[in-house]
Amino acid sequence: MKLLEDRIRRDGTVKPGDVLKVDSFINHQMDVELFEQMAKEFRRLFADRPINKILTIEASGIGIACIVAREFHVPVVFAKKSQSINLDGESYTTKVESFTHKRVYDVIVSKKYLNPEDHILIIDDFMANGCAVEGLIDLIHEAGATVEGVGIAIEKGFQRGGQKIRSQGIRVESLAIVDSMNAETGEIVFRDQPNQS
Ligand code: G4P
Repeated sequence: MKLLEDRIRRDGTVKPGDVLKVDSFINHQMDVELFEQMAKEFRRLFADRPINKILTIEASGIGIACIVAREFHVPVVFAKKSQSINLDGESYTTKVESFTHKRVYDVIVSKKYLNPEDHILIIDDFMANGCAVEGLIDLIHEAGATVEGVGIAIEKGFQRGGQKIRSQGIRVESLAIVDSMNAETGEIVFRDQPNQS
């Protein structure tokens, strides 16, 4: 999505260690008008899918997911990251390993909010190694629901997440795919995506 790529080029910064900072419009301050345009693009890309629910994970996926949910006129559920798992049988749970933060955490969703008849679009701000998205897919499968697709704002195409999820036959649409970036020059190379606006 050219609008998002242009914004990343203008306001994003490349940090050492392959980290892309987008705090001024996605990860700290949020540009809701940009989110609205992104939501419209997700709506167009997934128009053929019978989506009745959006699922994301706290924290920074929630803002984008809310705007996407409004565009699709469906509810949004966010999975909670938890230190101590509540084993009362009332929740679907899985473990997510964060390579960036070098730790494993439990992720939970109440059984009240995921049902076998749900057709779910997963939304998140970043995909790197794909561990967060894999965790959300696990929760959806635990509930017996259907994964209709995954919508990501920024995919780091040089990390393994995109390939890992797509190879499971799951449709992944990322509005900007960074194929390479250089912390010294600030140069960012995006993958060409002719199907996007
Ligand atoms: P993965 O889920 O794709 O495997 O990602 P990984 O464990 O490598 O990254 C952990 C966290 O760091 C995720 O957020 C992910 O969105 C974020 N992240 C990864 N690479 C970048 C990057 O280059 N720039 C930015 N801004 N974020 C990145 P999280 O742990 O879920 O935290 P939260 O911020 O959503 O609460």
